[in-house]
Amino acid sequence: MKKIQFQQHGDSRGQLVAIEEEINIPFNVKRVYFMYDTGPGVHRGFHAHKSLQQILFCVHGSCKILLDDGESREIAILDKPYEGLYIENDIWREMYDFTSDAVLMVLASEHYNEEDYIRDYDEFIKYKRLEKS
Ligand code: TYD
Repeated sequence: MKKIQFQQHGDSRGQLVAIEEEINIPFNVKRVYFMYDTGPGVHRGFHAHKSLQQILFCVHGSCKILLDDGESREIAILDKPYEGLYIENDIWREMYDFTSDAVLMVLASEHYNEEDYIRDYDEFIKYKRLEKS
């Protein structure tokens, strides 16, 4: 998994993190969205993107992200506001174990486009096989 550690500009007043296109993230940001008030036991996501790249930050609280590239699975724990999880295209993801105070902020390389989603796991596996052949 690709986690990006962002510099914390801390001083006696507290912490500050800066995210700058073309400087400390690998794509230009067209969209930012965030999730909060996620209920206990809720699992979200369950999709992959054909071309979208994203960086996920749990800016408050914590959550887990399951990443699946069609061959292996790994679990990322996001619990630091200065840590970003870079998810390239073609990765199946599921988000879960949100603490009640969790705010999951996502930077995305493209505008929202339902056509870019693969929401069926079997379809995702087929898509990965097609890409390889
Ligand atoms: P959804 O894809 O179900 O979220 P998740 O992948 O986290 O389970 O999105 C929830 C709703 O929000 C759905 O109606 C689509 C809408 N939405 C937007 O309008 N813009 C966006 O950028 C995103 C990510 C979702």
